[in-house]
Amino acid sequence: MSNYHIKNLEEYFQVYRKSVRNPEVFWEEIAEEHFVWRKRWDKVLQWDFTKPEVKWFENAQLNITENCLDRHLSIRGDKTAILFEPNNPEEEAQHITYFQLHERVSKMANVLKEHGIKKGDRICIYLPMIPELAVAVLACARIGAIHSVVFAGFSSIALSTRINDCDCKMVITSDGSYRGAKTIDLKGIVDVALEDCPGIETTLVVKRTGVKVEMKEGRDKWLQPLLDEAHADCPVEVMDAEDPLFILYTSGSTGKPKGMVHTCAGYMVYTAYTFKNIFQYRENDVYWCTADVGWITGHSYILYGPLANGATTVMFEGVPSYPDFGRFWEIVEKHKVNQFYTAPTAIRALAKENLSFVEKYDLSSLKVLGSVGEPINEEAWHWYNNNVGKKKSPIVDTWWQTETGGILISPIPYVTPTTPTYATLPFIGIQPTLMDENEKEIAGNQVEGRLCIKFPWPSMARTIWGNHDRYRDTYFSAYKNKYFTGDGAMRDEVGYYRITGRVDDVIIVSGHNLGTAPIEDAINEHPAIAESAIVGFPHDIKGNALYGFVILKETGQKRDRDNLRKEINQQITEQIGPIAKLDKIQFVVGLPKTRSGKIMRRILRKIACNDTENLGDISTLLNPEVVESIIKEALK
Ligand code: WT7
Repeated sequence: MSNYHIKNLEEYFQVYRKSVRNPEVFWEEIAEEHFVWRKRWDKVLQWDFTKPEVKWFENAQLNITENCLDRHLSIRGDKTAILFEPNNPEEEAQHITYFQLHERVSKMANVLKEHGIKKGDRICIYLPMIPELAVAVLACARIGAIHSVVFAGFSSIALSTRINDCDCKMVITSDGSYRGAKTIDLKGIVDVALEDCPGIETTLVVKRTGVKVEMKEGRDKWLQPLLDEAHADCPVEVMDAEDPLFILYTSGSTGKPKGMVHTCAGYMVYTAYTFKNIFQYRENDVYWCTADVGWITGHSYILYGPLANGATTVMFEGVPSYPDFGRFWEIVEKHKVNQFYTAPTAIRALAKENLSFVEKYDLSSLKVLGSVGEPINEEAWHWYNNNVGKKKSPIVDTWWQTETGGILISPIPYVTPTTPTYATLPFIGIQPTLMDENEKEIAGNQVEGRLCIKFPWPSMARTIWGNHDRYRDTYFSAYKNKYFTGDGAMRDEVGYYRITGRVDDVIIVSGHNLGTAPIEDAINEHPAIAESAIVGFPHDIKGNALYGFVILKETGQKRDRDNLRKEINQQITEQIGPIAKLDKIQFVVGLPKTRSGKIMRRILRKIACNDTENLGDISTLLNPEVVESIIKEALK
């Protein structure tokens, strides 16, 4: 029996039991049989959640791109690795074979080396969803440079914060980007960011839109002429298993964004293994994940996981609504997509439109549908199942996080019976548990608590770049010897997990993880504003939207409120990006606070949700009187 490809429920339980009883033997077999190593490990796993320290495949040597590219050349060199679908449907799709991708990555890697990039250097990649993004990521990995991809919807300030946090030496960007009918001036955003980034020596610029951009002498270079001159052969840098592969930022409930560090070997093994099983990928399938490579979903399940399996992975530059709301389904028909992986927010947005946008296309190629990023509500689940899957394609509701590197709780399609809104069972090797208020594990089924994981898995983040203490405090201090996810969950009578949502001050808006603190900081920088508090409230399409309670300074009192609202959102757009804009802004005289001065978000949340019947005990507040005035003026 090959444990690599699970085919039925009995096999799942059998392999699961093995993976939990003897994780080291289990992962050793997977690693040994399915990957190329330059040197074998000395020890499969070394861990201590109190430090915390986790090492998988210690002292093994490898290069992930050898596993994602080189090893496929002899058996599937002419197979399409990346199928690029441009924003404009009139522009031709590109089928980039494994041979071609290997050559493009090698050339790019040589360009990086010529610019002084060495193993361990950090490179920021700020690119739209074009093939060069994949090429740049893999080129870094090939020479051991640590990539830090920043989603190209983030603002200049967000970009410079991320560049400086990990001391990047280089930025790879493009002149502009296409998003539906819009064109975005990416290079201009980078130019502003770099005014605050003294560490950046070189900017490599991909030509995509052809808009006129400023090129700073000595710093900015067009990429194509350099690639044209580059050597097509670039031997891989041999990496240690625990060398960092990449940094990816995610927001926390407080403070600046956290640069999660993922390492080479464990990340490769786990993303490849989960990809194969959770999407039931077969050799000639065409797989499409609609995420952006700027998020972890794109890293693990557009690039590394699929490529490690020699898959054909679609990269889509555009948006679901352009040129119309049928675009996703047009692409599924055109490329005969077999596995389709998207976010609930996209499903809800499309479900609002006329059904003819879906019915127009032949979706019979689909075998597996995926969902990720936030809990999928029952209505969206059924719409997806009925209209896209025609009740024939199982939906895998995959729960995971930037920090986990790969999917931890999910059905295996055609193996695990699915239930709407349930992520169902832990994947092989994953040991979830629910904790109560007294920090005790909750036994049995039909229970609800805080979701923790009690044993390491290969693709977990190893630290926060430059701040190991914060890593420990955020994930390993709430519950002794456990990784705390920040999510709440319930376990039903058969042991299926249903994720109920964040239990901290992180709000998931349209599948994007947003911390309240950075948004509040952005608002508070406005000269007319004294203080603010952000909470989430339910929204039809976004899942959650943001509601801001804002206290004006004396000087702000006389200002026009609607103008102020615009300026607040402008401020947020500049500091973070448009994804963090507020849907509702209420000006208030005060914020409910505890006696120690902490904002009582619980109360604000109820007001934002228009659920003011049972506010609970407010008598312990420092200022109970403000609550009534806020309720009276609440926005409906
Ligand atoms: C948070 C992590 C992992 C890729 C995208 C998000 C929420 C994610 C699900 C799901 C319910 C989910 C959680 C988690 N989440 N997937 N299937 N059901 N909630 O990565 O930005 O790091 O966000 O997204 O709250 O903690 P992320």
